Amino acid sequence: MSISNLSEPSHGDISADRKNLTPCSIVIFGASGDLTARKLIPALYHLFKEKQMPSDFRVIGFARREKTDDSWRTELRAALNDFSRTKPVDDKVWADFAKNIFYCQGDLTETPACEKLETLLTSFGSAPLRENLLFYLAISPSQFGEVVEQVHRTGLLNKEGAGWQRIVVEKPFGHDLASAQALNRELTRYAHEQQVFRIDHYLGKETVQNILMFRFSNSIFERLWNREAVDHVQITVSEKIGVGGRGGYYEEAGALRDMVQNHMLQVLSLIAMEPPVSLEAESVRDEKVKLLKSIRPLSRDDVAKQVVRGQYFAGAVSGEPRPGYRQETKVNPASNVETFAAMKLFIDNWRWSGVPFYLRTGKNLPMSASEVRIQFRPTPNVLFAAKCGGSLGANALTLRLQPNEGISLRFNGKVPGTTLGARPVRMHFSYDSEFGAYTPEAYERLLLEAIAGDATLFIRRDEVETAWQIADSIRAGWEGKSLTNREFYAAGTWGPIAADDLLAQLGHEWHEPQVIK
Ligand code: BG6
Repeated sequence: MSISNLSEPSHGDISADRKNLTPCSIVIFGASGDLTARKLIPALYHLFKEKQMPSDFRVIGFARREKTDDSWRTELRAALNDFSRTKPVDDKVWADFAKNIFYCQGDLTETPACEKLETLLTSFGSAPLRENLLFYLAISPSQFGEVVEQVHRTGLLNKEGAGWQRIVVEKPFGHDLASAQALNRELTRYAHEQQVFRIDHYLGKETVQNILMFRFSNSIFERLWNREAVDHVQITVSEKIGVGGRGGYYEEAGALRDMVQNHMLQVLSLIAMEPPVSLEAESVRDEKVKLLKSIRPLSRDDVAKQVVRGQYFAGAVSGEPRPGYRQETKVNPASNVETFAAMKLFIDNWRWSGVPFYLRTGKNLPMSASEVRIQFRPTPNVLFAAKCGGSLGANALTLRLQPNEGISLRFNGKVPGTTLGARPVRMHFSYDSEFGAYTPEAYERLLLEAIAGDATLFIRRDEVETAWQIADSIRAGWEGKSLTNREFYAAGTWGPIAADDLLAQLGHEWHEPQVIK
């Protein structure tokens, strides 16, 4: 069954014109890193190609290595062949775009480096290109404070004054509450909170943005979105990839810091938050913070009962052999770091009291899929349910965030025939068949929002700190405990047995992400 043929003519579309796109310069600190070539430049190229960039702009890469404007442009052009979402790269568009790209060599710890940057910005000969500045910190968080101080000292970053200046920062934003607070203090020494744009790339995904649209633009689902109708919610972010070359980073992070503290709690807050009073950034973020604050705190004992970690040992994913985590490069052979985490959280507010929210994420699982499943309460055990001996499937709504982006509704139908057989059937909405293949990358949307000065899709200070409080309480519960046998899983399986035990406590079970053919 499909509803993809119900498309409305375009008068049903609402699109708001993007305003506030003033000419500006985008300065990327840490420009020789992976992120610039893989994500930032391809995103800016596509925005330019689709005529979504401001009428005038410059992109300045700032890094320590010696390069000229031309050698950097050549490097980026080569990388675009690999990382552009549209192929082949349009040479004419690239040539026009590349004229706006510059390289500034310098050592961040030295004032003259930022003076060079100031001279370059001034040489563009236009006040907006010198005053409207987006600083993208693609550098280690330990350098944030220094950079912010340098650009402030050179007169490029001000709390008040001409033009606008914004700072975009990547995750990881700290490694616990204390370090996140320290980073926040450093960033806001020379900038207002409103000038700081903390990235969580999940918020740039179309399907994640659609969560609020889906909830608050349709009357039929929102009235079921509460404890009266919902039995439980499952949020799964599974990945086929292992830790690979990121062993060193992963030893410090683990799945909790890498995925739960940010992406998963963000998805949870969008799924469960109350309607905001408006779509303004502060209104939306107020509700997300309120939701995070309503998550029932976890004591050490609660962590033992409600949170499971896991670590993969050698196995195979889709037939491809994978080493165990402890055998990965730069990983301690006796490491207790989790490559999988699952938890049962309760939201102590009027809407969700008593409804379990299950979250799970892991590496080296059988498939890469992110989805949210809202499972509704069963019917009373009479009539058809009684006849089926309790095996009548519950209704469920699944938001497929990636891949096969879409939404499915599962309900029961009568199997045709003379007997009374019931079977679950599904209605599918798929992005591809409804909207075609145009799916901008998360970074395109996020960069555009930062240029426009709309912080809705970025994480506010209190939000990141509240999320760290939750992650920290879980880490405290794990402190000093080694992994048990029930917490190991073979690469290529759906995680440790302990994760199944967790759901079995309330008679639930994990649902594998749907494969849509
Ligand atoms: C990143 C994590 O933030 O998100 C990675 O550091 C993870 O470990 C990635 O693989 C997942 O993002 P996506 O967009 O592929 O789901």
